[in-house]
Amino acid sequence: MCGIVGAIRAHHNVVDFLTDGLKRLEYRGYDSSGIAVQTGNKITRVRRVGRVQLMENAAREKGVHGHIGIGHTRWATHGGVTEPNAHPHISGGLIAVVHNGIIENFEEERARLQSLGYTFESQTDTEVIAHSVKHEYERNGHNLFAAVEAACARFHGAYAIGVIADDNHKEMVVARMGCPLLVAFGNEETFIASDVSAVIAFTRNIACLDDGDIALLNANGIEKLLDKNGQAAERKVKVSELSLASLELGPYSHFMQKEIHEQPRAIADTAEVFLDGGFEPENFGTTAREVFAGIDSIKILACGTSYYSALTGKYWLESIAKIPTDVEIASEYRYRDVIANPKQLVITISQSGETLDTMEALKYAQSLGQTHSLSICNVLESALPRESELVLYTRAGAEIGVASTKAFTTQLVVLFGLAVTLGKMRGHVGEEQARAYTEELRQLPGSIQHVMNLEPQIAAWAQKFAEKSNALFLGRGIHYPVALEGALKLKEITYIHAEAYPAGELKHGPLALVDENMPVVVIAPHDKLLDKVKANMQEVSARGGELFVFADLDSNFTESEGVHVIRTPRHVGDLSPILHTIPVQLLSYHAALARGTDGDKPRNLAKSVTVE
Ligand code: M6R
Repeated sequence: MCGIVGAIRAHHNVVDFLTDGLKRLEYRGYDSSGIAVQTGNKITRVRRVGRVQLMENAAREKGVHGHIGIGHTRWATHGGVTEPNAHPHISGGLIAVVHNGIIENFEEERARLQSLGYTFESQTDTEVIAHSVKHEYERNGHNLFAAVEAACARFHGAYAIGVIADDNHKEMVVARMGCPLLVAFGNEETFIASDVSAVIAFTRNIACLDDGDIALLNANGIEKLLDKNGQAAERKVKVSELSLASLELGPYSHFMQKEIHEQPRAIADTAEVFLDGGFEPENFGTTAREVFAGIDSIKILACGTSYYSALTGKYWLESIAKIPTDVEIASEYRYRDVIANPKQLVITISQSGETLDTMEALKYAQSLGQTHSLSICNVLESALPRESELVLYTRAGAEIGVASTKAFTTQLVVLFGLAVTLGKMRGHVGEEQARAYTEELRQLPGSIQHVMNLEPQIAAWAQKFAEKSNALFLGRGIHYPVALEGALKLKEITYIHAEAYPAGELKHGPLALVDENMPVVVIAPHDKLLDKVKANMQEVSARGGELFVFADLDSNFTESEGVHVIRTPRHVGDLSPILHTIPVQLLSYHAALARGTDGDKPRNLAKSVTVE
């Protein structure tokens, strides 16, 4: 979702950073981009609909050059995808603003500003920020910090903003409320960005802003920072460990392809904590032993793919740890009348750690007195882990493709590790069983590598899917969430309409959809529900449906007319859902290739969903 960059560079042209940074934020999803640079005594702005490259070409042609500037990739919320709606927004040639988030009371603010004589060129909520700051700036004798502070006091909603003024050659003001923003420090140059990927080619020294922070920046760093209470504060500077290579494609054609293939490594890295340190509560934080000892149930809150990993985790938590576990979509939970249970552990799962609905759901739970929280997250120092009592990071590395792949499977590793840890603590997992689980985890990366070898067969299936308009995914038990994930991947990157059902539900409605044009993907490993799944498959065959079955060697399937089978090497026990996720990811990736859709940047979607 919208990406922000900005910089004050004492000795270099700021445009080089702005365009490079915006390209590195492209993965977040966007439909237009723009920059505003202080050039002499005016602000020069370049905006374009479409790829950042178009905007960069235009900026180069114009010869834009300056030492202070801001940039933005926009993912449209208020107003269509047009150049006038693209950021930065400028008020009276004096103030330029980039914004991520939504100003909820923008209509009132717009009316107020119109009554003060301001005219609006866009349909965005952001333009009210530009006019409001300008209004305050002129009233207070051109104090940019005070102007942003006064303007922000009027806004309801979520925002991260960067603001420059045409008559201030040295300073920029930033503010954050609910949307991510960091400050990064170079040698006589200071940067801002929505995430670290935008800055690491320039510096690794970063400080994350907290909600409610307003900061005045110059080329030497943070000149002044007030926190949400209006108190002077400092933010800790950390050295980012993100590698530049993880942001590059290398030999791959797409990030999704790269990230699918990185899974053996990502899973091994994430499992390391349990393989080296055992299934011990301390892996989740120094106070985890005490916290885990006092809980009586678990609530998991998440969105999208992370929600499906939570659904899988529920099976493990209930079967291995025997702890009642409830899973909810964050955007639903946060608006529901909830019966709070202070003895319940609230787990949030998020690749980005910045998903607004998940963040707000956590805050809602905390406001109800649910103080015990654990975050499972992939991005270090993002908002969710910072707000949580306990954290365990997945070690997937940067995930750039909008379709989540390695984040999902590494989340599953952490959830499995959590289930075994709680199982041990609660006396349901003995030493021998724990050793068996350790061995399963140790073997997993190798098994996944074997599944990767099935790619040519899966790619051949994908050719058939590419011609279809609909698909059904079926699974049972712990493999039902894999079916959900498979359907989400397919619809998200190929735009083929796909639905997932627990196979037993078929005859309660969806069977009516089945005919010779309906491919039905079945996740059918050798588990206790296999015979039930086989019976459900008969129901499909009898209606002329074409079955595409992912089974393991022990499942004993044979191919027949209308029944295609790909066998994963062997049954991997409790970790089977992780293994069976790989084929559905590859199927979607290759179907997208065959249809010519952009799997890395699917239409209408954003990587990091920082608005409601
Ligand atoms: O960063 P998060 O894990 O919180 O993101 C949640 C969803 O937006 C995300 O998983 C989304 O569903 C993916 N695009 C699915 O591939």
